[in-house]
Amino acid sequence: MTKPAALGQFSAAFRNDFAELLRWRRDVRSFRTDPVDDAALARCLDAFTLAPSVSLSQPWRIVALSSETARTAALENYKTFNAAALAGTEGEAAQSFASQKLKGLEDAPVQYAVFSDESATHGHPLDLSAIPRVLEYSVAAAIMQFWLALRAEGIGLGWVSRLDQSRLKADLDLAQSWTLVGYLCVGYPTQDSALPELQVQGHEERAACPVVLEL
Ligand SMILES: Cc1cc2nc3c(=O)[nH]c(=O)nc-3n(C[C@H](O)[C@H](O)[C@H](O)COP(=O)(O)O)c2cc1C
Repeated sequence: MTKPAALGQFSAAFRNDFAELLRWRRDVRSFRTDPVDDAALARCLDAFTLAPSVSLSQPWRIVALSSETARTAALENYKTFNAAALAGTEGEAAQSFASQKLKGLEDAPVQYAVFSDESATHGHPLDLSAIPRVLEYSVAAAIMQFWLALRAEGIGLGWVSRLDQSRLKADLDLAQSWTLVGYLCVGYPTQDSALPELQVQGHEERAACPVVLEL
């Protein structure tokens, strides 16, 4: 394992690149359908291994949906779940965003359902119980690392949460005790943007800086 030149020191050039990476990471909704480079994907999956987790519990369970049957199950799940939501009052913008995600689910060459295994036995019981859902937070933190690693390889990720997870687990024959944290569409984006799509389309605005309460 190589260390940075001086232990703990990364160059100014690296910091600049990292800031750019954060700026250009996007939730991707439009993917090319060509395959993702296997070696690059393997490097990115290593980000899970290196991720933080409460008590080093490593509760992530990653399911790759590769077969036609599994992919169709997820697609139909999304369609049904959304149809119920969109029958309400969400309006035209919501319809448009839902159909963009649907396109992502149809096109993204790699798709993962990432779960938190609530029966993860590693870790001190106090650490696992002090903050509710801390195992799920660990999985979300790991997905975040994966997301950045992908972007550094020029690969995009689109996060889908509008799914009926009980149905998904039943369709994929997975343990009902697992909790779905994210359904991830992965592939090369058709375009790059430094702004969130919701902002580009005028629905939301990214805050200029985080609110920090000083006490
Ligand atoms: C936990 C989580 C769940 C998300 N679920 C959805 C989703 O169901 N549908 C969707 O369109 N975007 C989803 N997103 C993406 C957000 O809409 C997106 O991150 C946000 O608009 C900011 O855009 P950016 O990621 O390009 O900066 C999700 C993001 C996160 C972190």
